[in-house]
Amino acid sequence: MTLVRPLIEIRQLTKIFGNRSQQALQLLNEGASKEQVRQQTGCIVGVNTVDLEINQGELFVIMGLSGSGKSTLLRCLNRLIEPTYGSVQIGHYEVTNLSKPELLRFRQKKVAMVFQKFALFPNRTVLENVAFGLEIQNIEKMERQRIAREKLSLVGLDRWADDYPQNLSGGMQQRVGLARALATNADILLMDEAFSALDPLTRADMQKELLNLQSTLHKTIIFITHDVNEALRLGDRIGVMRDGELVQIGTPEAIVNSPVDDYVASFVRNVGASYAWKG
Ligand SMILES: Nc1ncnc2c1ncn2[C@@H]1O[C@H](COP(=O)(O)OP(=O)(O)OP(=O)(O)O)[C@@H](O)[C@H]1O
Ligand SMILES: [Mg+2]
Repeated sequence: MTLVRPLIEIRQLTKIFGNRSQQALQLLNEGASKEQVRQQTGCIVGVNTVDLEINQGELFVIMGLSGSGKSTLLRCLNRLIEPTYGSVQIGHYEVTNLSKPELLRFRQKKVAMVFQKFALFPNRTVLENVAFGLEIQNIEKMERQRIAREKLSLVGLDRWADDYPQNLSGGMQQRVGLARALATNADILLMDEAFSALDPLTRADMQKELLNLQSTLHKTIIFITHDVNEALRLGDRIGVMRDGELVQIGTPEAIVNSPVDDYVASFVRNVGASYAWKG
């Protein structure tokens, strides 16, 4: 039997916002709550001592109320936010120790982000938007257009290559965002509320599309949502956050059937018993 290491290993990851972060860290070690830390130091605990392993090819969903630390955790993974304490290991990258140039390279090659507000360039065509990540890697024009067209066709938008984002619906713009993330060939996708700005029908379409793509591409995806139905539909496993802490990690079935506390239970209360599990 070969022992396969998880692709992403997060150890003791902690992010504290504010000037007295070392004192805040000390208080957390002594068991203080996020609110106690705020009262005694003025610091805000974004992420509190998170341990998490994510496997290659897994679609891992992070769920939790607003302010629970989902985005902060995600952004610590590529150091868009600098962690205060702890480590992140991704493949053979010890992310928390990378120098500035190494970090830039890591961000260009290894991880891609998809945002809630699409973040497309309005004065670039759809094709140029998709090719953007390749442009900054200095890949030559013909090659990046070829790759961009291939990814556009994956998300069903080949016919829109020469249009501008403003002419596309929200759902289509988010497909462009997805194609752009796929274009760099990064094997990790970080998706922060990627579908939350879409109307319910378009959102359901995009969920289906993502699962469809994932069944052939086998990316490692971390997907943030505060919609329990979206979490259950997409997640191989789900991590539930509260006040910066990861309070439960489990399969959709485990989260629904065995919530560890009232907080987790409150998310799944309205999920029907006849919920159809994927797979
Ligand atoms: N730059 C910052 N400075 C100070 N506090 C911050 C900063 N960014 C986030 N926080 C705080 O960290 C905590 C976690 O915020 P975060 O944005 O990660 O939550 P979230 O779960 O993504 O919420 P939402 O669902 O609203 O996006 C919150 O208490 C927030 O107020
Ligand atoms: Mg957020």
